[in-house]
Parts: sequence; C-alpha cells; structure tokens
Amino acid sequence: MPHSPTSLAPQITAGVRLHGLTKSFGTVRAVRGVDLSIAAGETVALLGPNGAGKSTTIDLILGLARPDAGTVEVFGLPPAEAVKRGAIGGMLQTGQIIRDLTVREVITMVASLYPEPLPVDEVLALTGLEDLAGRRTQKLSGGETQKVRFAIAVVANPDLLVLDEPTVALDVEARHNFWTTMRAFASRGKTVLFATHYLEEADEYADRIVLMAHGRVVADGPSTEIKARVGLRTIRATLPDAVASELTALPGVSTAEIRGDAIVLRCTDSDQALRALLARDPSACDIEVRGAGLEEAFLELTGNGDGRENDEDGTDEVAR
Ligand SMILES: Nc1ncnc2c1ncn2[C@@H]1O[C@H](COP(=O)(O)OP(=O)(O)OP(=O)(O)O)[C@@H](O)[C@H]1O
Ligand SMILES: [Mg+2]
Repeated sequence: MPHSPTSLAPQITAGVRLHGLTKSFGTVRAVRGVDLSIAAGETVALLGPNGAGKSTTIDLILGLARPDAGTVEVFGLPPAEAVKRGAIGGMLQTGQIIRDLTVREVITMVASLYPEPLPVDEVLALTGLEDLAGRRTQKLSGGETQKVRFAIAVVANPDLLVLDEPTVALDVEARHNFWTTMRAFASRGKTVLFATHYLEEADEYADRIVLMAHGRVVADGPSTEIKARVGLRTIRATLPDAVASELTALPGVSTAEIRGDAIVLRCTDSDQALRALLARDPSACDIEVRGAGLEEAFLELTGNGDGRENDEDGTDEVAR
C-alpha cells in the first residue's frame, strides 16, 4: 500500500509505529518505553497479564490518551488524524453502546461519521447481525453486544483494526464465529492488533505475538516462537545432593535449580531430560512434569529484577 507514487524504493509500509511510548497515571507507570512496528497487513496479538499496559497502549494508538513521551504513527499519521480519516477502527474493553436505537440505526449513525464507510447492509452481513438489525441495543445479550461493537469498529472500513479483548464473555461458539468474521475482514488486507488473555487465540489468529508485562514488551515474535518459549515444561523431583551445574548439562534442560532436597528443571525437551535424569540418577523420586502455564511463562519471559515497583493489579479504567 504505497502512499506516494514518488517513493523510490519499495518501502515496508508500517501500519503502526510506536517509538519510546511512555504513559503514567500518577505513580503508576502503565507503559514504559514501548517500541513496536506493525507492518500493514499483519495481524498481531498483544498478550500480557492484568495491568501489563495493553489497554493503555491501545488507547494511545487510538488517540484516546496522550503519551507522556514517545510517538505513535498510524500509516504515517498521528492517531487523531488517522481516526478522523476512518483509517482506524477500535473495539474497546469498556464502553457502552448508545441505548434506545436499533442495531441498524447505531451502525448507520457511526457510518455517517466517516468519509468512506462500508454499506451498512454489508456490515450487518459480515458481522452476522442481519437478524438482529431491528433489535434495540439494550435488549442484546452480551455476545450480541460484542458483535455490535465489532460492527461499529469495522463500519468505517478502517485499514487498522484495534481490538481490546474482543472475545471476553463470549462462549466457545461465539468466539469461533467472531474470529471467523475477523479473519474475513483481515483478509481484505487489513492490519489488526488485538489484546487477549487467551494464548490459543493469539496462536491461532495472529501472525505475531507481542507479550507485555509491567508496561514493557518482553517478547515479540512469530507465534510459533513464543509458543515454543511458553511451552516450556518443568520437571520437579526429590534428589538429595544434586549439583545444579550437572543437571543443567543434561540434554533437554535449560536451567536447573536446587531447593533443599528438591530439584526444579526447566526444560526445552522434558521427555529427553527425564530419560537423561533417570539414567544418571535412578534414585530421583516424586517426579512431576508440568507444562508451564501462561502465568509461569509470563514470569519466565519477564525475567527477574525488572523493577516491579508498580505491581498494581488489573483495573482497566482509562480516562476517556
Ligand atoms: N486512568 C487510569 N488511572 C490510573 N491508573 C490507570 C489508569 N489506566 C490504567 N491504569 C493502570 O495502568 C496499568 C496498566 O493498565 P492497562 O489497563 O493498560 O492494563 P492491561 O494490560 O490492559 O490489563 P488487563 O489485562 O487487566 O486489561 C494498571 O496498573 C492500571 O491500574
Ligand atoms: Mg486491558
């Protein structure tokens, strides 16, 4: 999607470019120097524990909040300008839909705000709202409301879609339907950034995963790569007098820790590690092998000593 016919080289058009992005709320440093580039056409998942700074980052991209430092560019424009042109569609984590209007009326009203909206009927069809077009918004179920919020995000026919936990409160089927719709929209060459707590969603629907913790990006890569890191397994066993360095040297083991008579092995390949451990130390007992949960993976990827002075837990409210 080159913007200028005069550009000399085929440029990688950055859909979104965040540079040194920083935002605090009082003493809470919600976003602490985030650098991120998302290419046009890419679908990126933003993962991270409560309070990681995902919604704040999204609000900064949508121009709903101003950074204390750093810059946001959306297709080369400041957020406010990009929003005005209908280049960004947003689906927020919170926010009400206007009451006492029908679904069709709400979507039509939002469409009227933008220069080149999609036809309302097309949006109703795309988001599976045809049968609900005449329903008043306050009568909708939670899942149906989410559909309307998605419709509001896409009606401007934006090039960038920013979705903050779009499938929260959806059942399995609704979730699946949502992603099918999102995929259909993304396949029109759209750039998509979505925040989620579900690793499976990120894995399945994103080209790339950006993991945030404590206001920073702690991992950024293709979902396969992040999954491999997140997919670490841990072996715990009782093994008195073990030597950490010897355990670390076992095949399939990335780190070893001694806790009294217990050992904790973080493994890249737990099957291989377990065989090697038992071959070497047949007396190892009380063996447990566990997959690292997301929480554990976050800790693993966040590392230690990154300064958690603002370890607030997750309220999502952002001044709008
Ligand atoms: N308007 C605000 N005033 C004060 N603190 C805020 C405000 N908005 C966000 N915060 C704080 O900033 C930090 C980051 O919040 P943010 O909503 O960005 O996290 P998140 O990653 O979206 O979390 P969640 O997964 O819970 O939605 C949190 O500690 C939060 O309490
Ligand atoms: Mg959030």
